[in-house]
Amino acid sequence: MTGPFARLSKLSMRARLVIAVLAWTSLGTAAIWLAATRIYAAHVEEHFNAELAVHVEELSRLARLRVDGQPELVRPLSDPRYEVPRSGYYWQISVDGRPPLGSASLAGQQLDPAIAHSQSVQHVDAAGPTGPAITYGLVRREADGTELHFVIATDHSELDGLVERFTRDLTVWFALIGAGLLAAGVAMAGITLRPLAGLRLALVRFRRGAADKLEGAFPAEVEPLVDELNAFIRHNAEKVAAARVEAGNLAHSLRTPLAVITDEAERSARDGPRPGTAQVLLDQAGTMQVQIDYHLARVRARGGAGLPGATTALSSLVEPVMQAFQRLYPDKVFVVDSKLDDDPVVVGDRVDLLEVLSVLLDNAAKWADRQIDVTLEQAGERLLIAVADDGPGMRDADLEAAFGIGVRLDPDKPGSGLGLAIARSICADLGAALTLTQRTWPATGLIASLLIRAVPLNHASSYRE
Ligand SMILES: Nc1ncnc2c1ncn2[C@@H]1O[C@H](COP(=O)(O)OP(=O)(O)O)[C@@H](O)[C@H]1O
Ligand SMILES: [Mg+2]
Repeated sequence: MTGPFARLSKLSMRARLVIAVLAWTSLGTAAIWLAATRIYAAHVEEHFNAELAVHVEELSRLARLRVDGQPELVRPLSDPRYEVPRSGYYWQISVDGRPPLGSASLAGQQLDPAIAHSQSVQHVDAAGPTGPAITYGLVRREADGTELHFVIATDHSELDGLVERFTRDLTVWFALIGAGLLAAGVAMAGITLRPLAGLRLALVRFRRGAADKLEGAFPAEVEPLVDELNAFIRHNAEKVAAARVEAGNLAHSLRTPLAVITDEAERSARDGPRPGTAQVLLDQAGTMQVQIDYHLARVRARGGAGLPGATTALSSLVEPVMQAFQRLYPDKVFVVDSKLDDDPVVVGDRVDLLEVLSVLLDNAAKWADRQIDVTLEQAGERLLIAVADDGPGMRDADLEAAFGIGVRLDPDKPGSGLGLAIARSICADLGAALTLTQRTWPATGLIASLLIRAVPLNHASSYRE
């Protein structure tokens, strides 16, 4: 799968939840906001119109015709806004053929008497003295047939202002509520995903060897996954153990016949009729023996079974193995020189790494004249463990050859020629590098350099308990 779908399916669960919360919260608040403002505007308008209709009726009640036929008010309208010039609230009474009577707020302007054309209060939008207006009209017919036209106009901005103020307040409140809901949603995403962090921690502990399965309490949704993983781990471990036992059995079952062949060949080489042939048999049997020992050692080392991704704190490695070798070789001096500020964590199973270090220290101690120097230092992303001795060293040509299976450069010393071969094979599994170089200073001898991958610091903290 490529393109946007692949990117979508790789989106983190936290991002998915946050996007869902964001979409849901903003859609929800927007819809409620819209409905609330619409409903409020309709109610305010209704209320406004009803109040103004009362004003028109009041105007009609207070109006009468003088004897000369001119309209007049018995007393002013109760709302004082009609007295303030250009206040936005205007009234007018007109009788056909006479100059109209208007509120003080009109300040000499006139309203259209045609707005009043019905005997009940009607309202329409029209141009007013101070901008667009809502106008209300009412016609009253006197006993003598004279028609009085009552018109009231209010600036549309009066109504708009009311709705606007409400909308502004509501928007502020909704923004606050939306932000609160969003924050709660993000927090919820965190709480929901916490068991996954716990699962990861359990996995880290398992890979480090701190637990032999995934341990911890998990919610019902995650528990089946953990159970399946644990069953898989158990099954795998059983299969690996069985394979190791079989490999061991095979090696042991070959041992006895091989010993018999070797014995027989030795005798024939000494006093048989064809000593040349017997010697060939003897050499081949020797090679077979070495190969069996090598592979048996690899099967026994956890390298083959150890889980990839295991990590080990350096301090749990170097110090114990150095102490052990100091006891094994009391007449040699072991010195550690660490150029590290902290205790780094390296990639690799502890048992595997101990095996490699033991091979290097064993060689150094066997050949050293007096002192073995172990240096620890950072080398870019990796860590360098250098084991140096002050012994005879090696010829340049042998530096690489010494890693061969069964290769022994000095047959007088005890050994099987397997140490370096096994060490390098473990290193290959761990992504580590193992090399030998000549030492020239401060003493002559051999340096075995082990470069291991270090776990980045920010990760290392979570790998430790
Ligand atoms: N520190 C050293 N100084 C000199 N020679 C060494 C050193 N380490 C290893 N060698 C040589 O490399 C050969 C292979 O070493 P190794 O694989 O460890 O075999 P072994 O199991 O016999 O020690 C040894 O036989 C020895 O001749
Ligand atoms: Mg050795």
